[in-house]
Amino acid sequence: MKKIGVFTSGGDSPGMNAAVRAVVKTALHYNIEALGIIDGFEGMIRGDFKSLSYNDVNNIIHLGGTVLGSARSKEFRTSEGRQKAFKNLKSAGIEGLIVIGGDGSFTGAHILSKEHGIPFIGLPGTIDNDLYGTEASIGYDTALNTIVRAVDQIRDTASSHHRIFFVEVMGRNAGFLALNSAIASGAESVLIPESITDVEALAKQIKTQNKGKRSSIIIVAEGDDAGGAIEIVQKVKPHLEGFELRTTILGHTQRGGSPTYYDRAFATRAGVKAVELLMEGTSNTMVGITGDELKLTPIIDAIENENTPDLDKEDLLKKLLTS
Ligand code: F6P
Repeated sequence: MKKIGVFTSGGDSPGMNAAVRAVVKTALHYNIEALGIIDGFEGMIRGDFKSLSYNDVNNIIHLGGTVLGSARSKEFRTSEGRQKAFKNLKSAGIEGLIVIGGDGSFTGAHILSKEHGIPFIGLPGTIDNDLYGTEASIGYDTALNTIVRAVDQIRDTASSHHRIFFVEVMGRNAGFLALNSAIASGAESVLIPESITDVEALAKQIKTQNKGKRSSIIIVAEGDDAGGAIEIVQKVKPHLEGFELRTTILGHTQRGGSPTYYDRAFATRAGVKAVELLMEGTSNTMVGITGDELKLTPIIDAIENENTPDLDKEDLLKKLLTS
């Protein structure tokens, strides 16, 4: 293999740059040229490629976002779009791809690979942690820490003013960010899409647990079945007369920022592995992590299966409440 392409796709996540850096440096180490594909599949369709040197990827390990740019491409969903992309890859001499993204990005790369025979390796890059086959995705740990810091700050105001805050966090249809940030921030309750939300029971719980307390924090996953934080506050309000309720939506603050140790280290190890896998002829495989070991999963399994949070953790939260 003489030339590979690397790109980031879908929502950016902290640690993507660490992965790009590792891929490029490892490729150069093995005398393989690494082309950065700008803006994901969109750049592939445009033929927007840049040959990357050591210097291009120096001093990016600590940066949030993605220096290669990212996009969610509609055109790539069409076979004409993929045909254009493949033509560009071929004329640039790209023999294999490394995609850093979520399941939508893996699906796109998998279809391209099936249609045109180009091998690829996937690195899980999303703050949502919703990919099957890995305990963590690149960016998840940083996003969790961002949420915990934000909730600590919200708690200051909540306690000062005897308020109940509903804090909405990201995660699309998955509750990983909500559940685990709730545990680490000492939240009084958490609402996640994986379990049914009973608004009246929630109101009752808030009333009971709030006795003698100066504040309550309810973490709401954006994909919760009862709605986002704004909707849920509207629903509980009639049951919580006399309580001061507030809503905070953390939004894209959760996606940015310098990656944590965990995200940088995982991204780096996975980036090195991805190049070596392509070199040895492995394709359509995701490099995930379990414990401290890298773990390989066929892309098809990563795409077709769901990753669900451990619901025992909800019970754990309940054990921490006053009865
Ligand atoms: O998949 C990552 C994510 O941040 C989700 O948590 C969220 O639902 C979505 O992307 C937001 O996407 P966008 O940045 O396109 O609004």
